[in-house]
Order: sequence, then C-alpha cells, then structure tokens
Amino acid sequence: MKIAILPGDGIGTEITEQAVKVLKALGETFEMESAPVGGAGYEASGHPLPEATLKLAKEADAILFGAVGDWKYDKLERSLRPEQAILGLRKHLGLFANFRPAILYPELAGASTLKPEVVSGLDILIVRELTGDIYFGQPRGMREAPDGPFKGAREGFDTMRYAEPEIRRIAHVAFQAAQKRGKRLTSVDKANVLETFQFWKEIVTEIHAEYPDVELDHMYVDNAAMQLVRAPKKFDVIVTGNMFGDILSDAAAMLTGSIGMLPSASLDANNKGLYEPSHGSAPDIAGKGIANPLATILSAAMMLRYSLNKEEQANRIEAAVKKVLAQGLRTADIYEQGTTKVGTTEMGDAVVKALA
Ligand code: IPM
Ligand code: MN
Repeated sequence: MKIAILPGDGIGTEITEQAVKVLKALGETFEMESAPVGGAGYEASGHPLPEATLKLAKEADAILFGAVGDWKYDKLERSLRPEQAILGLRKHLGLFANFRPAILYPELAGASTLKPEVVSGLDILIVRELTGDIYFGQPRGMREAPDGPFKGAREGFDTMRYAEPEIRRIAHVAFQAAQKRGKRLTSVDKANVLETFQFWKEIVTEIHAEYPDVELDHMYVDNAAMQLVRAPKKFDVIVTGNMFGDILSDAAAMLTGSIGMLPSASLDANNKGLYEPSHGSAPDIAGKGIANPLATILSAAMMLRYSLNKEEQANRIEAAVKKVLAQGLRTADIYEQGTTKVGTTEMGDAVVKALA
C-alpha cells in the first residue's frame, strides 16, 4: 500500500514527521513517498500543486497531508497561493466527502472555553461537502458591475450552486455515517434565503426515505452556529455544504478545547482519501517544536480505517493517544496546570511508546 506524504508549510513538516513515525511503528509495511505542496511546492517548482505531487497523490492509496499557507505568500496572485494546493487536490481527486469529527477527550474537558457540563462527552461529526458550492462555482471574478444600483462600479463575485447528483452523494454518505453512530442527522442550510439551499433541503429530504432508521432534521446555518455553542451535545451528525461546513467545523473544533486535537478525512466515491489535521500551518509557531502532532496522528488513524482497511491499527493509534493524555502529557495548546508540558517530538515519541 502506498501513502503519499505531503507535509506542506509551517508546522506541517513537524507534525507529519510524528505521524509517519507512528505509522512506521505499527509493524506494517507501507510504501511512503513525500512531495512538496503549498508554499513548499511553489518554492520547489513555481506552483503550489506541482505536477509531480499531483501525480504521486493520484497514484497513492491514501494521502497524509500536513498544512499549507504562510503570510509571505499573501501577495501572490490567487492561482499561486498555497491554499490552491489543497483546493486543487480536493477537486482533481474528487474528494467530495469531508469528515470532521469533534470529540472532547475527558482529560481535556478543562481546555474548552465552554462549561464542562455543556461539552463533556461531546462527540459530533460534521460531514462537509467539499468540491462544490461557492468555493468552486463558476462564474467568479472581478469586473465592472453589469447591473444593479452599483452598475459600473468595480465588483467581486462568486457563484453558489449545487447540482442534484452532488447533493445526493453527500447526503447518502451522511445518512450512512449517521446509521453507524447515533442515527440522527441534521442538515444545515439557508433555505429561507438561498435557492441553492432550498434545493439542498428538498433533495436531502427525498433521500431520507431510503434511511427510515435515521432521524432527520433541518436547521438554518445561523441557528446551527448558535446551537453549536449553546447545546452542542444535541447534535450527532451534521451534513452541510462546503462554505457552511468550513465555518461550522472551526466552531465545533474549538468546543473541544483545541483544534490541535482534531483529524479529518476527505474521501472520494471509492474511499480513497486525503487525511489532514483540521488546523492550519500556524506559521507563528513553525519550527519551534511546540506544535501539537495529535491531530495529524489521529488523521493517520482515520486513514488506516477508511482507506487502508486496517481498523485494528486505527484503534491501536487512538488508544495510544488516549493513553498519553491519561499520562498527563500535553503540548502547549492543551497545557493546564498539573500536567506535563512536552514538545512535538516528545509527544510523537510518547504515542509510539504507548503503542507497544
Ligand atoms: C479548511 C481550510 C481550507 C478551506 C482553506 C485552507 C482553503 O480552511 O480545510 O477548512 O477553506 O476549505
Ligand atoms: Mn477551514
């Protein structure tokens, strides 16, 4: 089995290094090959998603991705910015289904900004559509406004759109995910204002007929944002579009105390996937050896489960992470008084040790 390792920028290198170490410690034989992506790709070959990197990602059975982005690339034209690498990989590989679990480990209850009774035991899953919506909709650009009260003024514009098959496939994925969990699905939309999401709601409702064992409800995105901080445990699985999912998943992540703990999986129709931490490249702490590698290590566990069919090894990694948390080891982002502060490498080493 071949795994493409794409560390990217900022803390991406340090954290993927730890996940690779953990994968190697499992005693399986994986073929792993690295390639530059994001700002690193731009430096290496003038493009954030170099052709050789895309080729490697296409050939591989799964992709472990670090993070991309750095302020120093902010002035580049959009098509050359690091973010285009991840957007390009999602689109080129058809990774339309994004799983973002938000789980609060009991040991970290104190790290959340919400009261323990609101978040303790939290275990929700956001299923975000990842290759459509306003992120990719055409036309888009900047122009002279062709009409309206500001006709003739400069304007920026994007297009929000979803085709029926796109909604259908993500709805099926979400219903099936709910079937394997608490059997409750909340579809988040903005059907009160947007045609795109009126349509979304209709299609999701239609598909519900095929999953009578799952309880479905619909929620407007503004209300969903409020409910996520008010009573997050009421959710089981949330399914939503690309942009709403982007925003809600950051909010959900923070409920757990640190975005540094949360993995994610982006899958195509055949369970080939890209696995990455939910957080970004954190250029402010890059190279300092203090970043939390657990989200990336847990992403490697998701990779074993969803793409490589190695559930047992996935469980081993997750158990090892729980063990190091129980031992009181913490990186700076989740540190509390009375625990032991460790760096990136030490945390990786501790997980490796806990696997044994
Ligand atoms: C994410 C990120 C990306 C997104 C950026 C880096 C393009 O925020 O994975 O959530 O908006 O999807
Ligand atoms: Mn995001």
